[in-house]
Amino acid sequence: MIPKHIIDEIFQAARIEEVIGEFVHLKKAGSNLKGLSPFVEEKTPSFMVSPAKQIFKDFSSSKGGNVVSFLMELEGYSYPEALRWLAEKYNIEIPEEKAQTAEQIQAQNKRESLSIVTKFAAEFFQNAMWETGEGKSIALSYFRSRGFSDETIKEFELGYCPDSGSALSDAALKEGYNKEYISEVGLAKNYDGKLRDFFRGRVMFPIHNVSGKVIAFGGRTLKKDKNVAKYFNSPESEIYHKSKVLYGLYQAKTALLKHDLCYLTEGYTDVISLHQAGLNNVVASSGTALTTDQIRLIKRYTNNITVLYDGDAAGIKASFRGIDLILEQGMNVRVVLFPDGEDPDSFAKSHSQEELLTYLEEHTQDFISFKTGVLLEDAQSDPIKKSQLIHQLVHSVAIVPDSIMRSVYIKQIADRFEMDEQTLLFELNKQRRSISSEKDKRAGFEQKNELEVVQPLPKKQIKVSDETAEHQERDLIRILLSYGHQKLEIDTGEEEEDGDPIYAEVNVAQYLVHQLQEDDFTIEAPIYKDIYFEYLSYLEKEEIPSIAHFTQHPNREINQVAVDVLSYQYSVSENWKKKEIYVKNEKEHLLESVDSAIHSFKEKRINLLINNLQEAMKTEQNEEELMQLMVENNRYLKIRMELAKITGRTILK
Ligand code: CTP
Ligand code: MN
Repeated sequence: MIPKHIIDEIFQAARIEEVIGEFVHLKKAGSNLKGLSPFVEEKTPSFMVSPAKQIFKDFSSSKGGNVVSFLMELEGYSYPEALRWLAEKYNIEIPEEKAQTAEQIQAQNKRESLSIVTKFAAEFFQNAMWETGEGKSIALSYFRSRGFSDETIKEFELGYCPDSGSALSDAALKEGYNKEYISEVGLAKNYDGKLRDFFRGRVMFPIHNVSGKVIAFGGRTLKKDKNVAKYFNSPESEIYHKSKVLYGLYQAKTALLKHDLCYLTEGYTDVISLHQAGLNNVVASSGTALTTDQIRLIKRYTNNITVLYDGDAAGIKASFRGIDLILEQGMNVRVVLFPDGEDPDSFAKSHSQEELLTYLEEHTQDFISFKTGVLLEDAQSDPIKKSQLIHQLVHSVAIVPDSIMRSVYIKQIADRFEMDEQTLLFELNKQRRSISSEKDKRAGFEQKNELEVVQPLPKKQIKVSDETAEHQERDLIRILLSYGHQKLEIDTGEEEEDGDPIYAEVNVAQYLVHQLQEDDFTIEAPIYKDIYFEYLSYLEKEEIPSIAHFTQHPNREINQVAVDVLSYQYSVSENWKKKEIYVKNEKEHLLESVDSAIHSFKEKRINLLINNLQEAMKTEQNEEELMQLMVENNRYLKIRMELAKITGRTILK
């Protein structure tokens, strides 16, 4: 049986679009992906995958579900088999079991052997430091002189590789470890059959994977000689993929969840010193340029990253790329610059914990002020450079996936440079269009054909039944079509420096979509769903489709529905009648009415979900499935409680 927390980890790591993409050729369709059903023969794609909801739905066979149920359906896997398949794909370790087949053992053999020899080395390095005269006088005293406590040194399993030519290799060979594996993980170099230790005379920083296994090392020289590389690092191997590992993540994991924030530094010593100073939610990219894989690793734990930079780091501008990568993942990125000549390590050493925390609190900047500050220094009053700067800022904003976040950032830039928001929005839209067409090209998508987005027509007529949220969905579609382009002033939940709330202007369409996606909802009823997805594909290009686009749509059912909802406007909606929005102060009431329509939709949908879940729980025999249902049920009960409380005004955290 696979432990619960591992199952959670697998679900968090797995991306349904990646997994299904291995079996089905998927193409973009609005915010979803679609392809030919893998379950039935068909010519017209009716198989949809939603990255936002992490589910799939096959409209031909009416199968649907999450990433695990997909593998079970397609490959005939059992529940644990599907989980194991995913764990393998996403490098998640499932704790050892007794019963393994000979085949499994065979397959795991090499990786295991590489792991075991690495583990042996980690223990050897620690012993060599704590137990030998050379180790104590050279390595242990070095770490202590840097202010690391013995407790910290042990927690990070620091060690020492003796300076003699092959102390580690000799010990490993004596224990029966395979020569090839010793050199394959980079612990020694093989000179004509004789091993020579790679890390001779260096203090050792083991690098752990998420589950705490040592998979590689960084070894720091103690020589001052500028011609000697300060660090040697383990090479890539079957157990170590540099771009997918973050130093300190294993030690930071729970703190990342607890604080819902990750501090990102550059070096081993930064992580260790901050940790010792009580800041446990810290990881390091270890001197390499930050990768998307590393960011996604953090994203499993939190959406918030604060990057810590040395005050005099020459590479600050090169760091912009990393910031853009974080934004691209839809995460929030902030920055702290340390005073000239200080890095997080030295700062933590020379200040108390309280001073450190205060410094972080007072010097955390959002990425726009940071980027502006850095670039403005260059630009001075040169108007050409200044306009380039604004282009660069807008480019970063253009990458942000969430439209409301984009509006907030644009507003911030407009305020900062006393510019007209419209001009910036125009530039933003231009950049987004070029980014999205570039992406399409890169991914080999065909030129987007709007009609392609539309689902094949269902055979049945739309039935109005109590068992769906169709009425509510219809109302949302009506609002989208009638008021999508109208502006709303919303409270972003953020504050200006003087404490005034920051308002952002967004249009009704963006707002409505944001509110739905926030809780992983989408429109489901036939036709309404087609309209919604088609609408989304426009929003992605920063466009609002015209009313005529739908009333004159080549698909007859779509134009029918569009005409219907628009003409029903004055009689259908209870929400709107109640609010008497057609009287004065329409703008005020628009937000309330949109909120109230969204609210009744969510309420209805959640009640349905809870009913279904509770029905399913009554008959579910499998214990793990039942657990899963209960967890989901609790999640929705919580959302329902929150729905009952909120007014729907504050939408960004
Ligand atoms: N690094 C590396 N190889 C080098 C230099 C640096 O891999 N030749 C990586 C290491 O992961 C290092 C990080 O880049 O931790 C940051 O480099 P630096 O600030 O120079 O090292 P520190 O870890 O801060 O070391 P120290 O404070 O001991 O000088
Ligand atoms: Mn340093």
